[in-house]
Amino acid sequence: MDMVHDLDDLRGQVRAWRTAGEHIGCVPTMGNLHEGHLTLVRQALTLASRVVTTVFVNPLQFGPTEDLAAYPSTPEQDQARLTAAGCDLLFAPSVATMYPDGQQVQTRVEVPGVSDILCGASRPGHFIGVATVVCKLFNMVQPDLALFGEKDFQQLLIIRRMAADLAMPVDVIGVPTVRDPDGLAMSSRNAYLTSEERTQAPALYHALSAAAQGLAAGLPVPRVETEAAAALAMAELRPVYVSVRRAADLGEPTAADRELVVLAAAYLGRARLIDNLRVSRPRG
Ligand code: PAF
Repeated sequence: MDMVHDLDDLRGQVRAWRTAGEHIGCVPTMGNLHEGHLTLVRQALTLASRVVTTVFVNPLQFGPTEDLAAYPSTPEQDQARLTAAGCDLLFAPSVATMYPDGQQVQTRVEVPGVSDILCGASRPGHFIGVATVVCKLFNMVQPDLALFGEKDFQQLLIIRRMAADLAMPVDVIGVPTVRDPDGLAMSSRNAYLTSEERTQAPALYHALSAAAQGLAAGLPVPRVETEAAAALAMAELRPVYVSVRRAADLGEPTAADRELVVLAAAYLGRARLIDNLRVSRPRG
């Protein structure tokens, strides 16, 4: 696998592939790659003839009190894992390459509405940072398709919406969440958990599973949300939100909506964990 840091080198490689009629897939990441990311790469390899993985810890999507400085970085390990997975090219730009004139003057991309709720409500500006960097990465790599994990379900919908609204010729594909055997969704931020917290962390998945079962059994949304939040608190997680939403657009569900998603964010120690489960509600 080749690795490039500069935009000209990336563009040169992409141009050569395009000339040869290749179909290009892209997996944007912030590095510290785990099985969830590698699943995206492997899936991309089944859908495209060339796969570019990007590794960039995007300062624009972190709030001033968030974990930008502590975000885990494992460049050699990432390179080895991507090579083993069969990735064709790693694009690892610097902050200066991504934001040559500084972040303050960077043109931003905002997907209104869906960016302001759930994680967006507690992380103001986060999804502007995500949409902006993904828009730039799409313009840099010019992929035919791009893959994102469903663990970040709100992020996936925002990116899909951005690509549709801005007529970007990129197919945005969601890939199911990869979990540890005890149910915990894989995340780079799991590295922040102490060994004791790691044993508590699957409570998030268990609370969401119970909520999904409750919805499938026809329990009312407010009851399901309240019980899931109580279960998290019992397990000593600090819920930021537990919310049942319409899966298509994260709107508040009406009684007629069947395809739902239950989403939660919670702190455990210094780790902010997120997860979600899709559920089909029976006809009332
Ligand atoms: O999910 C992530 O790792 C990041 O938010 C992304 C999509 C790579 C943008 O920085």
